[in-house]
Amino acid sequence: MDEIMTNRLDRGFEKYRTEFEEAALRVLGSGWYILGKECESFEEAFASYIGSRYCAGTGNGLDALTLACRAIKLEPGDEVIVPGNTYIASVMGISIAGGTPVFAEPDEYYGIDPDDIERKITDRTKAVMVVHLYGLPAQMDRITDICKKHSLKLIEDCAQSHGAHFGDTVTGAFGDIGCFSFYPSKNLGAFGDGGAAVSASEEYIKRIKMLRNYGSAQRYVNEEVGINSRLDEMQAALLKVRLGHMAELIEEKKKAAAFYDSAIKNPALILPKVREGAEHVYHQYVIRCADRDKLQAYLKDKGIATIIHYPIPPHLSKAYAYLGVKEGSLPVTEKYAKEVLSIPMYTGITREEQERVADALNSFEA
Ligand SMILES: Cc1ncc(COP(=O)(O)O)c(C=O)c1O
Repeated sequence: MDEIMTNRLDRGFEKYRTEFEEAALRVLGSGWYILGKECESFEEAFASYIGSRYCAGTGNGLDALTLACRAIKLEPGDEVIVPGNTYIASVMGISIAGGTPVFAEPDEYYGIDPDDIERKITDRTKAVMVVHLYGLPAQMDRITDICKKHSLKLIEDCAQSHGAHFGDTVTGAFGDIGCFSFYPSKNLGAFGDGGAAVSASEEYIKRIKMLRNYGSAQRYVNEEVGINSRLDEMQAALLKVRLGHMAELIEEKKKAAAFYDSAIKNPALILPKVREGAEHVYHQYVIRCADRDKLQAYLKDKGIATIIHYPIPPHLSKAYAYLGVKEGSLPVTEKYAKEVLSIPMYTGITREEQERVADALNSFEA
């Protein structure tokens, strides 16, 4: 029997092959490959999809986060509260921009815990960065209130939550700046690297556009030390094709998640829950098991690949040893890192594949 992989990007391509091919050929024949009409057109369409006003395409999600942190003018010593259980890019965005990451614990839905945000606020806190991890929005009603009350900037890391709503608002439109990754495996994935920042503030987006292009808004006039991080014309054109199908793509993932919800019945496993008022778009379908490593090996033996998002929380990585946040200081984050497991969930997953995954999970004995 074939191995079931954690993702099948080929199926995501096949689904809209003709449209992708047309877009790619249009760009190839255009003679214009960086910062042109395709990027502008995608930026406009993406801002409108999120329900925000302005958008700047970037080379990847990390740069969107870094430039967002620079746009709010983080100064050395400024603290940004960020969830402990995130992909390390969220944290690097803060530190590359010169800020100090301060970690908060997650709630039972894997989003940053608003109570812990409040506990971590100091007189040096400048901003909160929320991460809508796995595709489920964080507790945005409480978090926006906390930011207002303490005059903190709010940056959203939406790398995993394209199109996910909390209430009537789409993630990315709550904060001062919403940041996105279009890494190929994301729900809105490119065919290479890509990212974007959205905002209701023209000023922030102008600044990000200046910083993404060597600190120049006008050719050869450099106002600041910037970087080179642009969403190229090919990726923008291909992303726009996929953007046009987001409703269908999200629906497909929700159906696949509903199947897992009903088919997985092993009491040794904790299935993902959906926060009240929020929509989960299932970038990942993440289960928990006290005996996670044994479960992962068991599934591998049955030809089912899985991944851990993420095995080493950023505060325990060598990169952030300098912060001095010791093991044991974020017990919930550390527990999740030992227990979480992402099972196959992708565009084009078949019912047979899902049944094999669910049967294997149900026959696992902890
Ligand atoms: C939560 C989160 N933040 C940021 C990133 C960084 O995005 P990129 O890989 O496009 O730099 C990713 C994905 O890779 C992510 O999952």
